Amino acid sequence: MEQTIERIKSTQLQERVIDADVAASWIQDGMTLGLSGFTRAGDAKAVPLALIKRAETESFKVNVFTGASLGSDIDKLFAEAGIVNKRLPFQADPVMRRKINEGEMLFVDHHLSQTAEWIKAGVIEPIDFAIIEALSITEDGLIIPTTSVGNSALFVQYAKNVIVEINTAQPALFEGIHDVYDTGKQGDRPPIPLTEVDDRIGVPGIPVDLEKIRGIVFTEQKDSPSTIVPSDEETEIMAGHLLEFLRSEVRAGRLTKKLAPLQSGIGSVANSVLQGLIDSEFEDLEVYSEVLQDAVFDLIDAGKVRVASSSSITLSQQKMEQVYSNFEKYRDKIILRPQEISNHPEVIRRLGLISINTALEFDIYGNVNSTHVSGTKMMNGIGGSGDFARNARLSIFVTKSIAKGGKISSVVPFATHIDHTEHDVDIVVTEQGYADLRGLAPRERAALIIENCVHPMYKEQMRAYYAEALTRGGQTPHVLEKAFSWHAKLAQTGTML
Ligand code: COA
Repeated sequence: MEQTIERIKSTQLQERVIDADVAASWIQDGMTLGLSGFTRAGDAKAVPLALIKRAETESFKVNVFTGASLGSDIDKLFAEAGIVNKRLPFQADPVMRRKINEGEMLFVDHHLSQTAEWIKAGVIEPIDFAIIEALSITEDGLIIPTTSVGNSALFVQYAKNVIVEINTAQPALFEGIHDVYDTGKQGDRPPIPLTEVDDRIGVPGIPVDLEKIRGIVFTEQKDSPSTIVPSDEETEIMAGHLLEFLRSEVRAGRLTKKLAPLQSGIGSVANSVLQGLIDSEFEDLEVYSEVLQDAVFDLIDAGKVRVASSSSITLSQQKMEQVYSNFEKYRDKIILRPQEISNHPEVIRRLGLISINTALEFDIYGNVNSTHVSGTKMMNGIGGSGDFARNARLSIFVTKSIAKGGKISSVVPFATHIDHTEHDVDIVVTEQGYADLRGLAPRERAALIIENCVHPMYKEQMRAYYAEALTRGGQTPHVLEKAFSWHAKLAQTGTML
């Protein structure tokens, strides 16, 4: 009871504490759920797990909308239980990936900033239950989120019912780091008043109509740690190329040692690239991203980062223990915002971000595929990469030049699926080098990419393709019948070579 009073300030709400099983029993076949959770951080845990347990004895399906990927194996267990009809906007679980690719569940892959617009406009299924992890609920009706904000505020505002999971294992010191702002509806919206990375423009929690809160569940379960693997020789080389590029921008007078607010995508490569800034001359850096990985906290420790704004914090086990037990040290440098704001095109364009995301493959003209292996099989989803790439000051994509021990070239004649067109891609980086594509015509782009980014194993093959393409002419020369021949060969023989 003491815990209830401490975490739920409204006496009216204190009576609504229930078991997760009871909350899960309210969810009916065909409903749509809006779950908190963004890149394994701040996900609702107890009620989804209770729902998965219910599937052992009952047959039903629900739509699952979230901020981004879920932790605690919930996406995996949802997929195994077969209870998801439609999932959006992002997932990163191997089992769910398999079910999506086998056609057993539907997946809508879209820009993370856009779920908010679709829900506000009534384009997608209305939310029956928002299930939101929280630290507490204040007297005046603010749900204080935990390690992510994601789409939680939106789900709470638009859902018919709200279930709150108060997680006592999450760091209480997070209270105060959130900044929740509602943009309103399109067509009736003032400019977002965010002009500096550390501007606070909203309120420190999610406003909720107390009547909508059907139940409150107590949990005590930490977030799942991130799965990033440490830097390797190639990612360090890539980080070196990127630093070389940034230095050339400083020499050209287009950037200063402060650079510009940095966004870095999920995954090992992006983390390693940020790590590369630690021993650099760059200082007083700002981060404006959707997720903060280990490297951002290493940069804060090194005195390099002044402030970091994002929608979630996703850390490795070791980093999580270190950061959460010393959070006082980081508290005034971190702001967590709804993903509609962290990824908002208006804000990204205004702040002039340097955006670093990872490609699965890119082609000789700079079109990037971030999502579909060989053009058909979903990997994770576009996530926020499109929000950032199209609107950033510098849109940078990194990838190793080969995958699977060299059987795959990540630079290809024609990307088999295009998430980021040549118009949204400024710089591409592999361990071989970088190509600055700004201001270049397609023929200039192709020549530079082939020379600077393609692995030596594939260089002759690529030069031959491009030489033949040039004989066909065109603004963007291709040999159409051979454009996907590398992927076809991979499917037939197991290698693109
Ligand atoms: N074809 C097929 N597979 C490829 C490939 C290619 N061209 N390039 C890489 N891969 C494989 C790797 O071999 C690896 O496989 P494994 O898991 O079996 O080892 C896997 O893809 C991941 O590649 P890796 O090089 O380890 O990169 P990563 O962990 O940084 O992930 C993305 C890369 C593209 C999958 C990931 O960044 C992503 O999902 N991006 C889209 C979302 C996004 O960018 N969000 C940005 C804002 S957070």
